[in-house]
Amino acid sequence: MTLVTGRTPIPPMRVHEMDAVVVGAGGAGLYAALELKQELGPEARVGVISKLYPSRSHTGAAQGGVCAALGNTEEDHWEWHWFDTVKGGDYLVDQDAAEVMCHDAVETIINLEHLGLPFDRTEDGLINQRRFGGHTRNYGEGPVRRSCFAADRTGHAILQTLFQQCIKHDVSFFDEYQVLDLALPDGPGGRVAGVVAMQTATSELHAFRARAVLFATGGYGKVFKVTSNAHTLTGDGMAIPYRRGLPLEDMEFFQFHPTGMYKLGFLLSEAMRGEGGFLVNDDGERFMERYAPTMKDLASRDVVSRSIYLEIAEGRGIGGKDFVHLDVRHLGADVLNKKLPDMSGFIRTYFGLEPLTDLVPIQPTAHYAMGGVPTDIDGRVLADASGAIVPGFYAAGEVACVSVHGANRLGTNSLLDILVFGRRAGKRMAADLAELPAATADLDAETEVQSRVSSLLAGADGERPAVIRTELQEVMFSKCGVYRTEKLLTEARDEVAGLRERADRLLVDDKGCRYNTDLGEALELGFLLDCAEATVASALARKESRGGHAREDFPDRDDKDWLKHTFTTRSPENGRVDLSYKPVTITKFEPKARVY
Ligand code: FUM
Repeated sequence: MTLVTGRTPIPPMRVHEMDAVVVGAGGAGLYAALELKQELGPEARVGVISKLYPSRSHTGAAQGGVCAALGNTEEDHWEWHWFDTVKGGDYLVDQDAAEVMCHDAVETIINLEHLGLPFDRTEDGLINQRRFGGHTRNYGEGPVRRSCFAADRTGHAILQTLFQQCIKHDVSFFDEYQVLDLALPDGPGGRVAGVVAMQTATSELHAFRARAVLFATGGYGKVFKVTSNAHTLTGDGMAIPYRRGLPLEDMEFFQFHPTGMYKLGFLLSEAMRGEGGFLVNDDGERFMERYAPTMKDLASRDVVSRSIYLEIAEGRGIGGKDFVHLDVRHLGADVLNKKLPDMSGFIRTYFGLEPLTDLVPIQPTAHYAMGGVPTDIDGRVLADASGAIVPGFYAAGEVACVSVHGANRLGTNSLLDILVFGRRAGKRMAADLAELPAATADLDAETEVQSRVSSLLAGADGERPAVIRTELQEVMFSKCGVYRTEKLLTEARDEVAGLRERADRLLVDDKGCRYNTDLGEALELGFLLDCAEATVASALARKESRGGHAREDFPDRDDKDWLKHTFTTRSPENGRVDLSYKPVTITKFEPKARVY
């Protein structure tokens, strides 16, 4: 059947038979694909489907480092890292998962080095390490050098290394395909056996049938007005299972990175503070000394971002405005040009400022989703808060919630997460494949995607997606940002619901099938709206402040009632949003007041 739309007919669905499909070509997806090939051998049909060319994946934007307690430049232990991760996450971290991550970090970094990653070196040839927020020596005594780095292009180096390895191992790449649905051949609640995708170049629809599917699609930072995230970070991999009635975990916890470039949101790496930079207010005061006497500017990100907002609220923003300054002038040309060359370039290019002589205007920028698709420590997706598994479905990286970051992720733990859990998910998929049933078609999913795409192309009137997206980003930034209240969140909930209704009638101006980015953005808007709905619903319900979720009306952490994970689901039948809760796994570190 060929669907006829406004101008151009969409050709019928093309079918690909694979063993395993990985959606997303960032660090988690590439490491999983590499493991699958290595475990299953050259004959295995392993496909990576990516909305972008792999070298443009958002892992490439990660700057400052990836942490592991190598102890190359000073004493360090993976147990210290484990404690810092749990404390950084405001004790919402599942400690068994964090133990795996921090313990496996050391071997993972060595493995990456052997795969060819060009880390910066100490004078005696070891992998060099630097300080980052919340990483401490001896359970909180002061900052420790734990982050391994390749200048301020660490993610770029990881991406190139893993991509080259995947090419070497003959992984099949499907670049510029936008995944739009999961194949559930046994119906809702059953196994996952493939995906349905649209090829950006042609708008052709493709059914990828596979016994195992991994989502490694990244986050949804584009739901906020000021963000460090690229345009493509629209939460596709969270919204697709959510629409199918599967849960999202801990969506209320979204991280605002303290040092976004003022108004632009682009990231100025925490490595700038790790190398000795600090924040100053309008009085020229190094204010983090007041909020975090030991760690100062290297306290955890939630603490630093809130402190910036408090300075601004008390009138000490620069010139009374909504930003403060980052001072890196004293770092000197050698450090700025050799260890932070991209950051220095950003400051020169986008602000026209000279970091050696000028103060740099910064504001917190929406950066990272702690929540996402719930998984176990092997990437297997959970069907509900009881821990049941969805056969054939895996997730890793920012799209997933393991949960190793709890309520607030530590800097450089994201690259570590994608590596450790991407790799583990790949190994687990390879081991499970023999047990998983052969893939069969889900004609309902294929038909639904065909009609979604053709009705968007056929619509002759309605609103442009960009108008609704801009309003959504405003609402989320101003009402579900760093500080939240019942009133703001209730308004956000109602406004997001209103935007969802308006998004039922979208005008896609471009009726063609060649690189129809207008169509792609209309589809992405639906994903953003789903993620926003789940975020606001869970934030409204959580009546406490913890990590990245700061309620002005409930300023304290409440371990008695809220030391638990939120699972948010939407009924595919009637759209009702429900919340349920799962206990946090505590194996070693009892929750304590957090002081930096
Ligand atoms: O500041 C940074 O370089 C960001 C690192 C991270 O989010 O882990």
